[in-house]
Amino acid sequence: MRRENRTHRLTARRRLAPTALALLLVTGTAALAQMAAELTGPTPPMENVPADPIPRWVVDDIRQMRAYPEQPPVIPHSIEGYQLSVNANRCLSCHKREFVQGSGAPMISITHYMNRQGQMLADVSPRRYFCTACHVPQANTPPLIDNTFTDMSEPGVEHAGDE
Ligand code: HEC
Ligand code: HEC
Repeated sequence: MRRENRTHRLTARRRLAPTALALLLVTGTAALAQMAAELTGPTPPMENVPADPIPRWVVDDIRQMRAYPEQPPVIPHSIEGYQLSVNANRCLSCHKREFVQGSGAPMISITHYMNRQGQMLADVSPRRYFCTACHVPQANTPPLIDNTFTDMSEPGVEHAGDE
């Protein structure tokens, strides 16, 4: 009797599984297709469409909160016309340790003086030389796709020094 029940349940499960899988595939594929369409633009893909206007950067000089501690902070000021080449680095003319007193800019982080073994160098490390590889200006535009990012302080992590 017990064994009969068991086989019955098993066959029921066997019948259900492919249906569930198919359902998952269909909804999953539809969601993926929609996401791809939002990100990749026109279909057919080689179609010429007018380019969106270049967004205007936020240049209000207000330093933005970082989404997580290791995030390269976004650039809150205009960088138009700033030369950033092998021979000249306009960013460093304000952000380097030697120049922050005059410029009022925050000094490049201490990590920018470290080589990859963590040794301190006298000058900015070559791997931190091209600032805009990591730091970018921001435009106030809606996100390309919805996301459910929550700040790590929101799920109820207790904060040191809150009281
Ligand atoms: C004329 C001086 C000057 C130059 C040149 C300059 N900055 Fe700045 N930067 C500042 C100042 C001052 C601030 C502080 C916020 C403000 O006043 O805009 C700042 C803020 C920043 C911040 C935000 C830091 C934080 O903790 O939020 C980043 C990132 C940054 N700059 C990157 C750059 C990059 C990259 C370049 C070169 C493309 C550059 N800056 C060129 C003066 C300068
Ligand atoms: C390889 C990526 C990378 C490059 C290149 C880079 N940065 Fe950063 N930067 C970061 C990250 C990540 C942080 C935050 C974590 C940290 O401090 O290392 C940061 C932090 C900063 C800060 C904030 C410092 C503070 O104490 O608040 C400033 C200002 C800054 N960078 C300026 C620059 C400038 C100017 C350049 C070019 C000379 C540059 N960065 C190049 C990744 C980079």
